[in-house]
Amino acid sequence: MKAIYQTAYGKSDVLCFGDRPEPRPGPKEVLIQNYATSVNPRDWLIRSGRYQLQFLVPAFPLVLGSDLAGRVIAVGAGVSEFQVGDRVFGMKNPCDGLATYADVVSVSAKHITHTPEGLDWIQAGATPLCALTAWQALVKGAGIKPGMSVMVIGASGGVGSFAVQIARALGARVTAVCSGANAELARRLGATRVIDYQREDVLKQPERFDCVFDTIGRHRFTPSCAILNQGGRFVSTIPSPQNLKVMAISKMRALLQPGHPRAHVVMVRPDAKDLAEIAGLIAAGQLTPLIDRVYPLHEAAQAHDYSRTLRARGKIVLSIQP
Ligand SMILES: NC(=O)c1ccc[n+]([C@@H]2O[C@H](COP(=O)([O-])OP(=O)(O)OC[C@H]3O[C@@H](n4cnc5c(N)ncnc54)[C@H](OP(=O)(O)O)[C@@H]3O)[C@@H](O)[C@H]2O)c1
Repeated sequence: MKAIYQTAYGKSDVLCFGDRPEPRPGPKEVLIQNYATSVNPRDWLIRSGRYQLQFLVPAFPLVLGSDLAGRVIAVGAGVSEFQVGDRVFGMKNPCDGLATYADVVSVSAKHITHTPEGLDWIQAGATPLCALTAWQALVKGAGIKPGMSVMVIGASGGVGSFAVQIARALGARVTAVCSGANAELARRLGATRVIDYQREDVLKQPERFDCVFDTIGRHRFTPSCAILNQGGRFVSTIPSPQNLKVMAISKMRALLQPGHPRAHVVMVRPDAKDLAEIAGLIAAGQLTPLIDRVYPLHEAAQAHDYSRTLRARGKIVLSIQP
């Protein structure tokens, strides 16, 4: 199969395009002809050797990538939910090896679902990891219900652009935080109010929120309590030791002081049920992946360099020709 692989950690020039042995589907796995994947910041963190969960990553040669979108070309023993020819999308777990920057991918049947009608390969490949992160943060981490108010920090990014739309679809009022250049985009995604972080202090707002979802990792829990309602949640995507410690302490404090805001760190997991909920929102027209740029697979290095600018508006996709 054709893949992007690396034999050492380093800058984007360690990424090579070439042939790698094709995987075989193990029991409960499905083999996919992969048409699209996306670049996530974790990819260039792993590439450079800086990812905190580095020990989970298999030995070199290493094929990066979490997102996949394509057709089933074979099923392993014990798989009944999928058949050859099905259109699917999903996400690979780092523990199972990454390996979606490739035209053939083997993945657990529990980590994919059928692609909703009308979603093309590029959109499907853009969706799983970031949409699952946003869904798991808002539904499982913050328990968002209709009528709640949510602040999404980093609203124009990969996770943020899904989070604004998902929070809206859940019936929440959304305040987006982004640069002024992306204010109109955030409104189009469904934000009722936009804060330009370059002009306003995000934590000095008259409004109180049931959830502050910091998708970018710019803020901390304690100062954020100033804009949280009783029982509100601060959710971060950054699993730093500091954030994990704060999460544990805030859980204990909430036991002693019911109603005190709580911190939560989302750590995305592949989950076919969550992905089916996301597919349902897409099918209902409530969620549309926002695509910034599309690169052919062999230009993964350029795609990484662009992602590292942290200026992406939505997702950066790698398109894969079979
Ligand atoms: N824990 C997990 O499971 C998990 C899952 C997914 C992602 N993550 C992490 O979450 C972070 C975001 O991921 P992503 O894919 O959304 O990144 P991304 O798409 O690269 O984010 C780019 C966006 O960041 C915004 N941004 C940059 N600086 C900002 C600031 N100071 N305030 C507000 N927005 C700012 C930019 O908007 P402007 O140009 O408008 O500033 C841009 O639209 C990464 O660190 C990633 O590793 C963690």
